[in-house]
Parts: sequence; structure tokens; C-alpha cells
Amino acid sequence: MSGEAAPRPLALVTGASRGIGAALAVALAGAGHHLLLTGRDEKALVATEDRIHAGGGTATIAPLDLRKLDDIDRLAAATAARWDRLDLLVLNAAMLGTLSPLGHVAPREFEEVMLLNVTAQWRLIRAFDPMLRRARGTVIGMTSSVAPGRAYWGPYAASKAALESLLRTYADEMAALGIRVLVVDPGGTATRMRRQAYPGEDQATLKAPELVARRIVEQLAAGLAKGASRLELDRAGEPRVTAAMA
Ligand SMILES: NC(=O)c1ccc[n+]([C@@H]2O[C@H](COP(=O)([O-])OP(=O)(O)OC[C@H]3O[C@@H](n4cnc5c(N)ncnc54)[C@H](OP(=O)(O)O)[C@@H]3O)[C@@H](O)[C@H]2O)c1
Repeated sequence: MSGEAAPRPLALVTGASRGIGAALAVALAGAGHHLLLTGRDEKALVATEDRIHAGGGTATIAPLDLRKLDDIDRLAAATAARWDRLDLLVLNAAMLGTLSPLGHVAPREFEEVMLLNVTAQWRLIRAFDPMLRRARGTVIGMTSSVAPGRAYWGPYAASKAALESLLRTYADEMAALGIRVLVVDPGGTATRMRRQAYPGEDQATLKAPELVARRIVEQLAAGLAKGASRLELDRAGEPRVTAAMA
């Protein structure tokens, strides 16, 4: 077996440089995880790491552009060389793309959204599957209420539907091995992505990423059902959990 046992459960959060991912990384560190922080913006990752250290937690940064798919495999190999198991994989990083009618979407942008929001997510599951199995770990994936399809949200909506399908599939396949999956629809949250979708909106009227993070950590502490479950937050951040989508 490669690597040594981690002193704390290990959690990998993608998109840990800002928004929901950064808040969730800080909250998970507060709950006792060692955090592996990924994103492209190294300075911002260091800022998240500093917040974690200030709270008495521990973290390691791994700057990465998830669209470079082979780098995901390299990250998994480097992680497996240092830790033998991954307790929690948080598939949070995503891009919105340009909101426009389907017929106006640029082919290149459609492919970019699918590359990051779908293919890279599957590559993360694939690359970390052996470490997740060893931990009987948990996978969290961030979805959206637009996943069933909504006017002008075409590529992003389709990518979230595909991600949900991948997550349900993985939960189904892994239920007997004790791997659990939590699909999270955070609802409108004050982040850069939300501002891109609704530029005129007063973000003070939205829930903070820290509240989303707290709800997810509370759900993990309460325990997840076997297979896949779904956590939805309403506008005020009140949670609704539905079990077993399989
Ligand atoms: N905010 C909402 O209202 C809302 C609602 C429903 C669902 N969600 C979902 O929640 C998740 C987090 O969204 P957010 O609102 O926190 O978004 P955000 O503030 O825009 O953050 C997105 C994160 O993804 C990372 N990222 C983007 N492109 C990347 C790439 N090519 N490689 C690696 N990392 C990349 C960014 O880091 P770098 O730029 O440093 O790479 C950033 O940390 C997303 O899955 C989103 O779809 C959000």
C-alpha cells in the first residue's frame, strides 16, 4: 500500500479559492479534516489556507486547472503517494458560461462548460476512486435548480444534469462498498458566479457561502443515507434532505 495513514480525515475541495468552495474548505477544516485545496488562483488558495490555519486547522494547496485532465491524474498520484485514502471528495468547481438562447451558444463555449463541469468531474471520480474505496469515503457534488433545463441556461443546466447522473451512478455502484454521495443544490448564494448570472442583484439579499458550508457540514455530521442523498437549501438557507435517489 502506498503512502502513510493521514492523522486527520482527508478532504479534497475543488474550487477552494473563493465562494462556496472556500467557505466549505474552512468549515471542513474546523470539523477536523485536513484539507487539500485546489483551484487555479494560487494566491486565493493561500488565502483560504491562511483562514484554515487561523482557525487551528491544517491544509495543503494544489493549484490546478481542472480542464487539463491529465493533471487530475497527476494530482491523484501525488495524493496517493502521501495519504493512502481520501475520506471526502468535494466536486465544487464549475463555470457558468454565457447565458443565452441555445441557438446563440458558441460551440467552443459549450465544449468548455462540458469539459470543466462534466468531464473533469468524472475524471476526478475516476482518479480518486481507489482512495475513496479505501476510506469508504463520501463524494459531494454541487448542482443547481436549473439542472432540469431553463431558458438561457442551456450548457450550464445540461452540465449539472449530467453531473447529477454521474453522481447517482457512482452512488449506485459503490453503495455496497459503503461510499456515500451527497448532491447539494445550494440555491442562490452570494458569490462571483451568482453575480455573473444576475449582475444587477443586491448580494446582501442572498445567503452567504458560509451558511451553505455550515449546512453541508451539519448534514455530514448527522450522517448520510446509503447511496445518494440530496440536500437543497431554500432562500433563507433552511435545508431539505431527500434520501436515496437511486
Ligand atoms: N452561487 C450560487 O448561487 C450557486 C447556485 C447553485 C449552484 N452553485 C454551484 O456551486 C458551486 C460553487 O459555485 P460558486 O458560486 O462558489 O462559484 P465561484 O465563486 O465562481 O467559484 C467557482 C470556483 O471554481 C473554480 N474554478 C473555475 N474554473 C476552474 C478551472 N478551470 N479549474 C479549477 N478550478 C476552477 C474557481 O477557482 P479559480 O478561479 O481559482 O480556478 C472557484 O474557486 C458550483 O458548482 C456552482 O455551479 C452555485
